[in-house]
Amino acid sequence: MKTRIFLFSTMLIAAFAFFAFSVPQDQKKPAPWKIDAKFKAMKNAAPGDAESIKLGKALYAKHCKSCHGNLGLGDGPKAANMETFPGDFSDAKFQSAYADGELYFMITAGRDEMPKFDSKIPDEEGRWAVVNYVRSLKK
Ligand code: HEC
Repeated sequence: MKTRIFLFSTMLIAAFAFFAFSVPQDQKKPAPWKIDAKFKAMKNAAPGDAESIKLGKALYAKHCKSCHGNLGLGDGPKAANMETFPGDFSDAKFQSAYADGELYFMITAGRDEMPKFDSKIPDEEGRWAVVNYVRSLKK
């Protein structure tokens, strides 16, 4: 009986050790962005109407969804390979943390694993439309 308990607990420990090492580590939380103050004050150059959100949605589907996910939860198919969590756009805390101009800056300039879209979405109003769409993802 004692041997069986011993064997059983050894197997249990081995199983735990196996899972502890095979489960990937959590993604890093993004560090604060350094954004020039002028972006905070920048006025959104796209009207926040349904048409602009529709354009933003189409651009988001093409350029952002693969990492940020359909609803902006940071769960797109490419997100699993990212070292840094892409953020949760549905979170009220995310939405209030940044002004429109700051989101515009992040999309335009990127950093590290977050690509820059100054040339992939060359139209400034298009990038502002993406900002409007990101706003619409708030829960
Ligand atoms: C290749 C994957 C990838 C694509 C494509 C991508 N992003 Fe990101 N994005 C990331 C990652 C990873 C981060 C976190 C990186 C960091 O903060 O250093 C991030 C960060 C962000 C942030 C800041 C989030 C926060 O909480 O600070 C915003 C806003 C953002 N992305 C918007 C967009 C938009 C809009 C698009 C499309 C125009 C886009 N991203 C395309 C991977 C991506």
